[in-house]
Amino acid sequence: MTEHQFAQQYRDYWDKGAAVYDEIVDTEFETDTYDHWKTILNNLLSGKQNLKILDVGTGPGFFGVLLSRMGHQVTAIDSSPEMIAKAKKNAEKYNCNIKVIETDIIEYKTEKTFDIIISRNVTWFLYNPVAAYQNWHRMLNDEGQVIVFDANWNLFLSNPQEAALYRQAKKEAFEQGFLPYREEKDIEEGDQLALTLPLTYVRRPEWDREMLKFIGFSKIQVHEGFDSNFYSTGEKILNRHRPMFVIVAEK
Ligand SMILES: C[S@@+](CC[C@H](N)C(=O)[O-])C[C@H]1O[C@@H](n2cnc3c(N)ncnc32)[C@H](O)[C@@H]1O
Repeated sequence: MTEHQFAQQYRDYWDKGAAVYDEIVDTEFETDTYDHWKTILNNLLSGKQNLKILDVGTGPGFFGVLLSRMGHQVTAIDSSPEMIAKAKKNAEKYNCNIKVIETDIIEYKTEKTFDIIISRNVTWFLYNPVAAYQNWHRMLNDEGQVIVFDANWNLFLSNPQEAALYRQAKKEAFEQGFLPYREEKDIEEGDQLALTLPLTYVRRPEWDREMLKFIGFSKIQVHEGFDSNFYSTGEKILNRHRPMFVIVAEK
């Protein structure tokens, strides 16, 4: 299969998931989760105002809307037309002036530069994460930062020890009433796609730290321990061996 055909398959997968993800972010907007994320972002941005921010892989636009409401100038990109439609709908619903663009992260090039390039739960899915990090380095203002929230969501697919830990966690989470967000066949499709993606095979954030340094980023910091604030009991059990991290790196 060519890279183009893979990219189409990835887009189709997210198109199918757009309604479910929109429901998830609807809940985030309407519960304490919104304030938890606002506090996390405010701390990372040191309370700075009016920053030029690029939200990559915005999905239904949760970070885009939140950052816009915090007073920043937001551009939000995603390659899935259905996700883009949800992001536009949410920008309108929350009365936010966000530039929403349908494009692939790897292909997106602009003369404009940003103070912050941010993503949540996106980098694990990049088919060329090195090219993405290189582009982001180019698109940042001097002393601009990348802020990458993610986790080793799929290490269990390539690592037998992680697979055993995940199987046990999943069993316990289900016993506690955890319900998966997507149907079993979609989860299976996601796993098959993840097997074609490079970051399924490496341990993060160690990989990112080395790569970001190699590309020329400096002051690379990693924080963990913030996800328990917004997880349900079932999610806490399910994800206990794959905590979220955030990498902050400066140009
Ligand atoms: C798990 S969702 C996360 C959405 C959003 N960041 C959030 O946290 O709510 C991953 C998103 O990344 C987008 N995505 C994945 N690979 C992409 C690529 N190469 N270019 C643009 N968007 C991409 C998908 O379309 C999807 O909307």
